[in-house]
Amino acid sequence: MSKTLSAILIGAGLRGKEYTDIMLELGDRYKVIAVAEPIESRRNYIKQKHNIPDELCFDNYDSLLNLGKIADFAIVSTMDRQHYDPAMKAISLKYDLLLEKPVSSIPEECLKIAEYAEEMNVKVLVCHVLRYSDMFVKIKELLLDNTIGDIVSINHEECVGNVHQSHSFVRGNWGNSKRSSCMLLQKSCHDMDILQWLIGKKCKKVQSFGSLTYFTKEHAPKDSPDYCIEGCPEKNCPYNAVKLYLDDKDNDWFRTAATRQANPTDEMVIEALHNTQYGKCVYKCDNDVVDHQTVNLLFEDGVTATFTMNAFNKGGRFIHIMGTKGELRAAIDGESPISVYDFETKETKEYNIISTDGINAGHGGGDYGIVVTLYDYLGENYNGYLASGITTSVNNHFIVFAAEESRLTNTVVDLNEYVAKLKNNIK
Ligand SMILES: NC(=O)c1ccc[n+]([C@@H]2O[C@H](COP(=O)([O-])OP(=O)(O)OC[C@H]3O[C@@H](n4cnc5c(N)ncnc54)[C@H](O)[C@@H]3O)[C@@H](O)[C@H]2O)c1
Repeated sequence: MSKTLSAILIGAGLRGKEYTDIMLELGDRYKVIAVAEPIESRRNYIKQKHNIPDELCFDNYDSLLNLGKIADFAIVSTMDRQHYDPAMKAISLKYDLLLEKPVSSIPEECLKIAEYAEEMNVKVLVCHVLRYSDMFVKIKELLLDNTIGDIVSINHEECVGNVHQSHSFVRGNWGNSKRSSCMLLQKSCHDMDILQWLIGKKCKKVQSFGSLTYFTKEHAPKDSPDYCIEGCPEKNCPYNAVKLYLDDKDNDWFRTAATRQANPTDEMVIEALHNTQYGKCVYKCDNDVVDHQTVNLLFEDGVTATFTMNAFNKGGRFIHIMGTKGELRAAIDGESPISVYDFETKETKEYNIISTDGINAGHGGGDYGIVVTLYDYLGENYNGYLASGITTSVNNHFIVFAAEESRLTNTVVDLNEYVAKLKNNIK
């Protein structure tokens, strides 16, 4: 029988719950044996679901890590600015890690985590879940099979979706960069990682533009109250919090995030709509992250890529990869096939990706895929092409940080120079 890998969970929020729910689905591959989470209902959900004894349930990660190494690996799924400390402590105990992205909101901390993990010889798999989604796995396979020859250029678009933007990046955890990080890091570190992974070469230079233009107080409807639940004169607002959080009973994601409780009741949601940012007029929050941004990237051998992140759409990702022998187009919308046009035959071939549902659904199958891959990755001699080590993940974060520097300074940033400066900073 294959070995059961034991896990400790640090942070039982939406992501921690997602990964551990999937681990349970996978039978005897994993066993979650301890949890650290300050919110009682979230902690209890994990405790009951995984049958964890009281003495291994904690309200903070320090108490859990003070026990020393008690499992094969640790899941770190606290908020962005709370990754560094538990990750470094867990690495010091020689835990392998499943670490949520971003590795850290601070580039120097990313570097320190990568260097320390290498020094301690532990594996850190960063939750760049797009790599493991059904669509991108197939695209990578087609590229490895040389279906379109050598990649010359990629146009890639991340459509965040207007409502998703309002929930996560205006009202929610990631609206204010001082609490979390810049938009490109939170939302598009996946895309920078995917571009580098698909191209398979080093990024050399980046340039970026973007700003916050719409979710600002100038766009608030006349006489709108601070909280939608107080009664807004604008009846057709797509961002009315009462409609999104209270009336839509099926939106467990929004309701759980707003109340910060497992299994929230309507009363809890109403309370959140009166007292938290989730109830606020979407034009009157403390958000400062961009609602649209573009990045130009130059890779080795003259390969170029353009990337656009944008809030003003229904959602989805769209990629167009142009190679020396053909082109590949894909829409990550759960419906469209991948299409490949071959220059020689002048034929277009379509590859249908069956969209996943249920436990496999999150991030187009990516959440499920990373948990499945983690098992192999933590074993001996992983030689798959999906997972990457922490140094690659962190290098791909540096593309993001460098792009953000470009946006803020109106310059083209050279990646080698950027990383050299960073290394100098932490000497
Ligand atoms: N990979 C992806 O696609 C993806 C998607 C969404 C979010 N994320 C990232 O995942 C992370 C978590 O996001 P989330 O939506 O689950 O947030 P969340 O706020 O729902 O969960 C974080 C949890 O950490 C807990 N926590 C706080 N202090 C703690 C402590 N001292 N000890 C233990 N637990 C503590 C909080 O109470 C909370 O329940 C973030 O960094 C986010 O950027 C990744």
